[in-house]
Amino acid sequence: MGEASEGFRQLRCGFPLPNPPPYRGRGFCFLGSGMTLTDAIARLPKAELHIHIEGSLEPELMFALAKRNNVRLRYPDVEALRAAYAFTNLQDFLDLYYQGMSVLLTEADFYDLAMAYFRKVAGQNVRYVEFFFDPQGHTARGVAFETVINGLTRAQADAAAQFGIQSRMIMCILRHLDEADALRTLDQALPYKDKIAGIGLDSSEVGHPPSKFKRVFRRARDAGFLLVAHAGEEGPPSYVWEAIDVLGVDRVDHGNRSLEDPALVQRLAKDRMALTVCPLSNLRLCGVKRMEEHPLRRMLDAGLFVTLNSDDPAYFGGYMNENFAGVGSALSLSAAELRQIARNGFAASFMPEAEKAKALAAFDRGV
Ligand code: HPA
Ligand code: ZN
Repeated sequence: MGEASEGFRQLRCGFPLPNPPPYRGRGFCFLGSGMTLTDAIARLPKAELHIHIEGSLEPELMFALAKRNNVRLRYPDVEALRAAYAFTNLQDFLDLYYQGMSVLLTEADFYDLAMAYFRKVAGQNVRYVEFFFDPQGHTARGVAFETVINGLTRAQADAAAQFGIQSRMIMCILRHLDEADALRTLDQALPYKDKIAGIGLDSSEVGHPPSKFKRVFRRARDAGFLLVAHAGEEGPPSYVWEAIDVLGVDRVDHGNRSLEDPALVQRLAKDRMALTVCPLSNLRLCGVKRMEEHPLRRMLDAGLFVTLNSDDPAYFGGYMNENFAGVGSALSLSAAELRQIARNGFAASFMPEAEKAKALAAFDRGV
């Protein structure tokens, strides 16, 4: 077992984040190539398709923004906050995630948040990003929809110019809120149709099946948005069926529990439906007890179209490289498998066909 895997053993279901995180720039020799797993992953061009931008808010930036905006946090310092990152399920995490957002008030805050993420992943050879944002988490606190969009779009432009990272944004509907709130939020998005590529569904899954938002997603599709939904993270396979058949999603976020239903697995494979899998998130939220039990290997064996992503990197102990390394070493993925999964990120993206063909050709040329 390699050093990367040893490090990730510290990232356990139900335990606080170690400080500093266990990812180090070294590792074991990978398949006799002379390259470490860590180096091989670092060199892969990557596309991230499942990242909640508010979940990239690192404790240090949270405290800096709290100071700038005179917001009082419940924790005295960064160390105390990190010590609270000991989640046993999705709701545990969401409770802190929504508290963390309280420091985001101005356009500059959203800009700084997104630029910090882009800067971080630029150093991990991430070339393309589709990120989620949760406007209802902000408008409910009196922050204007436009403030959020303006800060994020300004960061997208600067990330393209400074880091060469292209990106699109996906607006998520909070599924614990009601349909009327979702419809109002969709209406707010319509004037920004040119800036928002898709509509997604996130927050507390169990008890809030995709069908609750059937009419919202129909309207979003009619308005020309692409569609995604979190399904099968904690919820049953029936939620994945609903995401596909009732909402008509173009990708499924997570989808882990699909494996409990062989007919669903067959359907996902037949439709070449992309799954945005997030290993460190699954570990930290106790969807899996140990990384060695992660369903990714079974997904690959079933011929599913999987991508790897970070979900909420500031809360789960790692960005893209750490997710590739954590699951790659725990499941002994080969160099070819890791490369194929990285390529899938571009292939499953919402790039228009010509842009995607160019990105895939560049990936295949190794540039
Ligand atoms: N799952 C569901 N909703 C979320 C998540 C997640 O991991 N992160 C932010 N909102
Ligand atoms: Zn997510």
